[in-house]
Amino acid sequence: MQFKDSIRQLPAYKPARLTAAPPPNFVKLSSNENPLGASPLAVAAMHAALERAHSYPDSSAVQLREALAQHAGLSPEMVICSNGSDELILHLSIGFLDVGDAAVMAEGTFISYLLRTRELGGTAVRVPLRPDYTHDLAGLAAAITPRTRLLYVCNPNNPTGTTLGAAEVQAFLAHIPEHVLVVMDEAYFEYATRPDFPDMVAELRNGRTNLIILRTFAKIHGLAGLRLGYAYADRAIIDYLHRVRPPFNVNAIAQAGGLAALADTAHIERTLAHTAASRNLFQQELRALGLEPIPSETNFVAVHVGDDLAVAEGLAQRGYGITPISSWGVPGCIRISYGTPEQNAGFLAALAEVMPAAAVAS
Ligand SMILES: Cc1ncc(COP(=O)(O)O)c(C=O)c1O
Repeated sequence: MQFKDSIRQLPAYKPARLTAAPPPNFVKLSSNENPLGASPLAVAAMHAALERAHSYPDSSAVQLREALAQHAGLSPEMVICSNGSDELILHLSIGFLDVGDAAVMAEGTFISYLLRTRELGGTAVRVPLRPDYTHDLAGLAAAITPRTRLLYVCNPNNPTGTTLGAAEVQAFLAHIPEHVLVVMDEAYFEYATRPDFPDMVAELRNGRTNLIILRTFAKIHGLAGLRLGYAYADRAIIDYLHRVRPPFNVNAIAQAGGLAALADTAHIERTLAHTAASRNLFQQELRALGLEPIPSETNFVAVHVGDDLAVAEGLAQRGYGITPISSWGVPGCIRISYGTPEQNAGFLAALAEVMPAAAVAS
């Protein structure tokens, strides 16, 4: 038996790094989930779908793709659904990377791009974020070579929460050669508030062929446990990705839940209102602790704390799980997903206890 080096060298997925067992009632603020829970309309639709669990799902997720297409003003042939948008990142690697091909990405962005590139024997070319923690679009474009197949941009960016505006993204796209597929990961786009947030779907409507937009039901719709993602792209790319995916990769419960969640505007509104209130609270309270939160347009916030691992450990001992992100390429920072009002208050009190200790230790 021969294990592949490209896979043996990958780190195993480890959501939190704790040295001791977490206390009971541990509060998980580490995965950018929706603290208000799943869309209630989705939950009802999923209960009904359970009655049909003996049947295979619609392999092409026709109804859900039609709804997503209608939402975006695109044709259903420009939509694909997946078992989480993470699966699409894998399928992009399978579909576009041969050994030695390159994928360009930021250093300090969603870690799956790097892992799935290396898994397929590709080379991950990482460009540091700018000092304001945003993507360096000029640097990313300059890193393109004839072997580049994929270029990832995460907007808003996980784990920093930072965004790029329409003018700079359009100027960037104009410089990308046809042999490079730009993967615009918009997992958090619903949370973005800047008025000039780029309209990537319009780029597709206008005929751009080297762009794919990744989205997910895991965040604003509160369906992380279902594993449901989707993408918009030119017909040829979507047709190609349908050939990569296994036939029944999106289960029937997820299809029913996703369809109902899309129509649950009340849940979306509630979630946005709660996110805005949490954002204000964290800005205010982190500053009161002498910290400078990175401006975020997502359901989480990143902040520089010095020794991120020590702070994460101190918080874990007090019952709060957050994500230290030095290892993601954002030195000295932690990322906190907003929780319920009670969880937010408890977390901020725990951080106030941990921070002086961390300052001494670092
Ligand atoms: C930027 C980004 N892309 C993709 C994903 C994966 O989403 P999914 O749960 O749909 O696989 C995440 C999840 O945290 C994310 O933050």
